[in-house]
Amino acid sequence: MSPFSLTRTLPADATAAALRADVSQGLSRTPKQLPPKWFYDARGSELFDEITRLPAYYPTRAEREILLARAGLIAAATGARTLIELGSGSSDKTRHLIGALTGLLSYVPVDVSESALESAGRQLLADHPGLDVHALVADFQQGMTLPPTPGPRLLAFLGGTIGNLLPPERAAFLRTVHGLLSPGDALLLGTDLVKDEETLVAAYDDPEGVTAAFNKNVLLVINRELGADFDPADFAHVAVWNADDAWIEMRLRARRELTVKIPALDLAVPFAAGEEVRTEVSAKFREDGVRSELHAAGLDLAHWWTDDAGRFALSLALRR
Ligand code: SAH
Ligand code: TRP
Repeated sequence: MSPFSLTRTLPADATAAALRADVSQGLSRTPKQLPPKWFYDARGSELFDEITRLPAYYPTRAEREILLARAGLIAAATGARTLIELGSGSSDKTRHLIGALTGLLSYVPVDVSESALESAGRQLLADHPGLDVHALVADFQQGMTLPPTPGPRLLAFLGGTIGNLLPPERAAFLRTVHGLLSPGDALLLGTDLVKDEETLVAAYDDPEGVTAAFNKNVLLVINRELGADFDPADFAHVAVWNADDAWIEMRLRARRELTVKIPALDLAVPFAAGEEVRTEVSAKFREDGVRSELHAAGLDLAHWWTDDAGRFALSLALRR
């Protein structure tokens, strides 16, 4: 039997129905907003990979530094035989963990992007031919059914992706994680940290324009899937630091007054000149906040590690 399997729990029509609902609700309300998971079609996943290599986008390098320094400790503390990773993307940093987890039998990457799962799975199997890789196309905000792999389990959620969920979504997500684990299993969580505004904004508004292209990719997804006539050139990429909520907000701002037609929804969406659509938040954290959000979900913080410059943190928490 092949050691790689890919299971789709998102049938094409379910994805289409969810996209239709999100777009029609999100663009009919004031202020307009779109949920971030629609960024990640094949092109969006490629653009995100490009973002991780930008000089100004420090989170990936900072998190890699921590993983390289602590992978041995994580392996010793968890003894994991299964590694589950939510929002695994290219699984690139995860390699450092997989290399250190000596007793690892199964890797379960979960992502909405099937193309990312396929190419990550191929590369991983080339490096670890003995590993069972069960890739799962699923939405980690919905119920997930994981394959019955051996414990102890370590569930990784890296990249600061938890910051892309709003606070109530975060609480629900952490309860879901608790429900996927058994007592003594562990969560490895990557969180970007609160820091000066200039560094934060630069990470989400690079001079190369890659983040702008990534942000606007959601418009191309809506054009392709729902027949809409968005012209990305009509919108400007905006990244602002919201200090009250401690998050970066990504927005698309209409450069002029315009109306977008979305035939599949039988909808015409008017935009005033300067009107903005919020496409994503990226929350930044402090140790106390992470500890208490974990605790409220039945997860006890055991280790808190940052990179040398103190920009990013990895938390290891144990399921009560
Ligand atoms: N873990 C990688 C990728 C982070 S980007 C890293 O640290 O670099 C966020 C990833 O989460 C993308 O691969 C995206 O496709 C995935 N994703 C976003 N929303 C999701 C959802 N609701 N369910 C499953 N995957 C999701
Ligand atoms: N999880 C990443 C983050 O919050 C996602 C991300 C990085 C992102 N850059 C982006 C999302 C730009 C939208 C636009 O850092």
